[in-house]
Amino acid sequence: MRYQHILLEPIEAGVVRLTINRPKVLNALNRATLEEIDQALDLLEANKNTRLLLITGAGDKAFVAGADIEEMRQLNSLEAKAFSAFGLGVLRRLENATFPVIALVNGFALGGGCELAMSCDLILASDNSKFGQPEINLGIPPGFGGSQRLTRLVGRPMTLELLYTGRILGAEEAQRFGLVNHIFPQESLMTKGMEMALDIVSKSRTSLQLIKQLVQRGQDLPLDNACIMESDQFGLSFSSPDQTEGMAAFLEKRAPNFN
Ligand code: HXC
Repeated sequence: MRYQHILLEPIEAGVVRLTINRPKVLNALNRATLEEIDQALDLLEANKNTRLLLITGAGDKAFVAGADIEEMRQLNSLEAKAFSAFGLGVLRRLENATFPVIALVNGFALGGGCELAMSCDLILASDNSKFGQPEINLGIPPGFGGSQRLTRLVGRPMTLELLYTGRILGAEEAQRFGLVNHIFPQESLMTKGMEMALDIVSKSRTSLQLIKQLVQRGQDLPLDNACIMESDQFGLSFSSPDQTEGMAAFLEKRAPNFN
């Protein structure tokens, strides 16, 4: 598959890296880039060897500086709504992916870039990264889920402050608000991301899938229903070889060997 705006590279052990590759415009997301991410997800979901996806931006300045303003300015209302809906759908696919997704935020993650990062399961950030939803300065609200995902991640007062002011957060502030899992020096972000990816893919694949579903789907359900879903998934895991192996390994005092 040939891509113009992204790079899709298998690294090792089923870990794949997707790089948004438009460094001249700080990896801004135009429609074509979103389409390529969507196509890449088709490919990754169809390949049973895909274990984990890392998403990052090309260059050392930006993860993604937002949706492409040059392209967006031309849109009429219906086209803007369709663009928003398409982007929302692509980001939702990351949350519903059958494998873990980690954002390696290596610079600006603004607007659609912050929304892309928030759609990933974990965010690892470089020490020079910057997060924010500055759409207010363009005379628009967020359109790829920022108003909703930010509220769920950092709470309503901070979301409203960030959306009202367009204030940009440095990595440490973003981590304090619960947006970022870990901060690393820019030059070691990829290595650290890969270390974490390899640790995760060494675990039970079935459990990873069940855990992702529980956390992603459960958070939008009433607690009773979400807990019933957890019991169901817990029960389901007892028909998987990983449960047999994991418990046997513990009792035999050895490391589990998950296939
Ligand atoms: C298009 C962009 C861009 C963007 C940067 N560029 N961000 N082009 N869309 N989102 C381009 C610039 O025009 C410039 O092109 C080049 O990238 C380098 O950017 P500079 O501004 O010169 O860099 P710098 O001065 O370092 O400032 C970095 C920056 C700034 C603070 C990140 O670029 C910026 O504020 N960008 C826009 C951030 C933003 O508002 N994002 C939200 C977008 S709305 P030239 O040709 O001059 O070299 C959004 C909505 C999502 O995301 C939902 C849609 C439905």
